[in-house]
Parts: sequence; structure tokens; C-alpha cells
Amino acid sequence: MPSISLTRHLIEEQRLGHVTPDLRLLLEVVARACKRISVAVGKGALGDVLGEAGGDEASINVQGEAQKKLDVISNEILLEANAWGGHLAACASEEMEHSQQIPDAFPRGNYLLVFDPLDGSSNIDINASVGTIFSVLRCPEGVTAAEDHHFLQPGSSQVAAGYCLYGPSTMLVLTIGHGTHAFTLDREQGSFVLTKAHMRIPEQTREFAINMSNQRHWEAPTQAYVDDLLAGKDGARGKDFNMRWVAAMVGDVHRILTRGGIFIYPWDRKDPSKPGKLRLMYEANPMAMLVEQAGGAATTGRERILDIAPTSLHQRVPVFLGSKDEVDTATRYHLQHDSAAA
Ligand code: F6P
Repeated sequence: MPSISLTRHLIEEQRLGHVTPDLRLLLEVVARACKRISVAVGKGALGDVLGEAGGDEASINVQGEAQKKLDVISNEILLEANAWGGHLAACASEEMEHSQQIPDAFPRGNYLLVFDPLDGSSNIDINASVGTIFSVLRCPEGVTAAEDHHFLQPGSSQVAAGYCLYGPSTMLVLTIGHGTHAFTLDREQGSFVLTKAHMRIPEQTREFAINMSNQRHWEAPTQAYVDDLLAGKDGARGKDFNMRWVAAMVGDVHRILTRGGIFIYPWDRKDPSKPGKLRLMYEANPMAMLVEQAGGAATTGRERILDIAPTSLHQRVPVFLGSKDEVDTATRYHLQHDSAAA
């Protein structure tokens, strides 16, 4: 069987009417940028890429987090690649306060690109997995100068979503609404090769992912749900669960797409002004689309993530995603708690 490259896969999808020529070319540009990021990440201590950006004065991003050099490098690679691509009206990045229109001097297209250039960046300095997450929306018709509010579309409007995982191998996982497919970077050839078509998440699982150090800050139904996971065979669930935490959402979601599980970043009381840690547009929406396209589910513990109407570019939400039956169970704990309290 000859191997199927990302390019060939997308051309076949175009023939089937699943993707427009413009979206296909835009995804190729994003994939090319991810290859460049993969090279930068792979240099590690041999390149001048580790540590914090900004030298002595740490540079702080719009999320209030210290930026790593690789956050900044990855953001620049994605911006630069897409400025010249000709398929975008504007892009928005987790690292930038506002969206950026494609400058007048450059060719413009009809899509909006949203990205987290380097997710899980606390893993950079320990040589563990990190990744790029992206989402593509249509620019509303008739809009010639896209602004932040044009991006505020529910996740169900995404026309494509994906991530690139920089781990022992570099993998691009992509959906254009017709299944979730995984491509592995062939470093010698420089091309992404289809290695798993139509990923499927088992509906049931015995594995969960959550940062347990926040346990005391969670709300009651999250506590009750996780208590029952921990009670294992001796508790209400009647089976033992294992726990894993990569501390980079791309790594945890990749494991779940590969062998099932539930990933949780719930609302917590540590900072009551933040309804969760993860960002709706840059993390929750693209991952929810990938997971649903692989037969899984994604909620906030109460509602489907892809149904949320965003109110701001950097909005945060609680996230429960992965194996369908397990996400449904976790959601039930929260909804039953709410109706008992009502
Ligand atoms: O974007 C935030 C992120 O790095 C995710 O990739 C990851 O799942 C999470 O934060 C890790 O959070 P914590 O540091 O609380 O474990």
C-alpha cells in the first residue's frame, strides 16, 4: 500500500466535496508552519530556544502567564506563514490580546484562523510533549476588515480543527468534519503521512486525567464524581480507574484519541473570576470538534462545548472530554446536583 500524504488526503477530500480548494491550501500552510515549529522544538538546548522570553524582564502574555521563548517563536512562525498564504482574512492567537487582520498589502481570503501556538509550554524545559492547537472559522460574508467579534462563533461553526503534537514523533491530528485523522511527520521526506484514518474513542474507559492538586478547590459535584472514580471497585462505579496527567492538553487529548479516557479541567475556586483554566476558542473548541468527530463527547460538565456562544476571544471554560459514556456520567453528576439544589 503506498503511503498517503496529507496533501493527497486533502486532495481526495476536495474531490469528495468535503473541503474547498482555499481551505485545503490554508491547512497545508498551517501544516508547513507546524513542521517549522517541530524543528525549533526539536533543537532543545542546542538552539537558543529554551527558557523565558524577554531576557531579564520576563515577558507576560495576555493570559497573565510568563512567555517562553518557544511560545514567541511558534507564534511568529504561524503569523508569518499565514500572512503570505492568501487564504485568511485574519487570525487570533492565545498569545495576542487582539486578532490580527491580514495586512492590505497581502492577498486575503475568507477564513479566520485561531491558534494556541505552543500548548503545555511548561513542558518545554523538561523535554516533554508540547503542541500547537488550531481552529478554522469562516469569515462572515461581506466583512472586509475582520475584528475580534467576527471570531465569536460557536465551536459548531468550525470548518476545521486540529493539533500538532511535538512528542517522540511529530503528529498532526486533523478534522474537517468528516472524521478525525492522524498523520505522522516523516522527518526524512519532510511530509506528514496518514497513519491512522478515522480515529475512534472507545465509549467506555477506566482512565481519567485531572490535576488532583486542585481537588479542594473544586465544586461539590466534581468532588463527588472524582471521589467515586477513586473509590474504584469498592465504590458506586464498581470498577478501578487509572490516572494520567501529561500537563499539556495536546498530550492528554492525544492519549484519549488513541485509547480512550476522560480529560477534565473543571471550574475551581482558586480564582473565582475565571470560569475554568482552558480557553474556549484556542483549546476547548478545536479539541471538542476532534473528539466528537472520533465518537467522543465534550462538555463543560453541564453543556456541550460546541454549543457555547463565545462572548470574548480569550474566554475560559471548564472542560470534560473523551470517552462518551464517561463524559455523560460526569455531566450527569453536575446536572443532578444542580436540579437537587434548585
Ligand atoms: O493551556 C494550559 C495547559 O498548559 C494545558 O495544556 C494543560 O492541560 C494545563 O494547562 C495544565 O494545567 P496545570 O498546570 O494546572 O496542570
